[in-house]
Amino acid sequence: MYQPIQLSYDFSSFTSALSERTLKNHYEGHYLRYVNQLNQLLISQNFSFNYEPSLLYRNIDAFPIAIRDGILFQTGGVLNHELYFQSITPTKIEVPEPLKSKLTEKYGGIGEFEDRLFSLAAELPGSGYTFLAVNNNNDLILLNLANQDSPYMYGMIPILAFDVWEHSYYLDYLNHRAGYLEKMIPFLNYQHMNRLYEQVLKKHKTI
Ligand SMILES: [Fe+2]
Repeated sequence: MYQPIQLSYDFSSFTSALSERTLKNHYEGHYLRYVNQLNQLLISQNFSFNYEPSLLYRNIDAFPIAIRDGILFQTGGVLNHELYFQSITPTKIEVPEPLKSKLTEKYGGIGEFEDRLFSLAAELPGSGYTFLAVNNNNDLILLNLANQDSPYMYGMIPILAFDVWEHSYYLDYLNHRAGYLEKMIPFLNYQHMNRLYEQVLKKHKTI
């Protein structure tokens, strides 16, 4: 079975922006449920768990059509939440290279990138995530996807996920998503984002 990730910080690490209650409920109440539901669905198909969840996207045809949507939804619920929890950190560091240069080239600077992320996340209709993903040309793409959809569905590799489902912020901000974004975007984990970016470049054999 797939095992949930452990967080590298406490639920109380962002209390200036997000309460312990919100983060704990998000991880235990939402994320762990997706892990459990994905495992249950796959067990029902005698799946051998012989590859990682992101590969379910390209192998989805191996499952009966009636449960493919369910598997894709739960897989997104697992992977998107994992990336979201890894996309925030209470430890502030300088944006590392090569990501810093790429973000500056693409968006004009780190502040400008964060402004674009804020605007896009603020305008996402309903529930979903704002992602930063890398496409086959190693270009960075900021995009919104609904519900638990994933950039993997479109051949891109996500390196940042920002959860804007109401359960991410409602206990603290009610329906004021912009307040949540304003407070949480300063906690972006550029180190993790850079690590994933480098992995994609290596995979595409450009470094
Ligand atoms: Fe969530």
